[in-house]
Amino acid sequence: MLCLMNRPRRNRRTPAIRSMVRETTLGPADFILPLFFHEDAEDTPIASMPGVTRWSLESLVREAGEAHALGIPAVVLFPKIEESLKNSLADESFNDDGLVPRAVRTLKAAHPTLCVITDVALDPYNSDGHDGIVERNSSGELEILNDETVAILCQQALSHARAGADVVSPSDMMDGRVAAIREALDDEDFTHVSILSYTAKYASALYGPFRGALDSAPKDGDKKTYQMDPANSREAIREAMLDEAESADILMVKPAGMYLDIITKVRDTTTLPIAAYQVSGEYLMLKCAATSGWLEERDIVLESLISIKRAGADIILTYFAKQVCEWLKAK
Ligand code: PBG
Repeated sequence: MLCLMNRPRRNRRTPAIRSMVRETTLGPADFILPLFFHEDAEDTPIASMPGVTRWSLESLVREAGEAHALGIPAVVLFPKIEESLKNSLADESFNDDGLVPRAVRTLKAAHPTLCVITDVALDPYNSDGHDGIVERNSSGELEILNDETVAILCQQALSHARAGADVVSPSDMMDGRVAAIREALDDEDFTHVSILSYTAKYASALYGPFRGALDSAPKDGDKKTYQMDPANSREAIREAMLDEAESADILMVKPAGMYLDIITKVRDTTTLPIAAYQVSGEYLMLKCAATSGWLEERDIVLESLISIKRAGADIILTYFAKQVCEWLKAK
């Protein structure tokens, strides 16, 4: 027999002991459920994201209510805008009677305690499919105009706040937009509306299925002049310090699973809550592996989420949110 002073396995011996020494746990309050919806009266399954649906307004309200009843505190809204409403200045993005403000009003009326979060970015509204306003420079190259875009984002955030959004969430990665949106909100007395900033949003190949869900892929070029280079991590700290200084309430890292080191680094730089977005491509990879039968869905999904939380995230945006709450309830 070995003469060992330390036998770490004692702390793993029974389920009761393991539960007692567990450092990280998952619960319904950890999650934000992203929801897709459109103007049509029919619900449409999303081909690029098996198991995820683009809802009618009526179904959106039902789905959000079910999530809230499971203990999920918040939903974030992603609209599919009709092609005929898109233009190069994304005018529909700040229409007070547009799809998002109407959805916010309906959701808040039906579920007053649900936290309703809106996405602030121009890509669903912009005929160019970019998060900002596009211009071609003299050599024909695509340019995304920062300051002009920020002015429109402020209008968009205001239209969401007027409709009753609890939180606005800029996902565009323009410089200076958190401070500008804060000022615009405060000027209209929306001091209580929070800003969840996509602080470190990487130019990731994992957003493909989402763009398929909303028909929002860029028509030309890529998003590398505004979303971050996956090779960088110090840059995430810089973005975090700026967003905190600009008075963001919650910082987000996106994607989540391949960027756990970034979550940890941002955690170590700020006292603000941190959200992480398990994006459409992460969902798709897990779903496909589970559907093939080679990975056990419940186990792999829970492992992916506990890893994101262990890395330092307080809140996780995931398309699995409802399913996970059902699993946790059944445990
Ligand atoms: C757009 C936006 C994107 C996602 C959330 N907001 C796509 C993009 O930046 O191209 C992706 C979410 C996902 O993939 O699940 N502003």
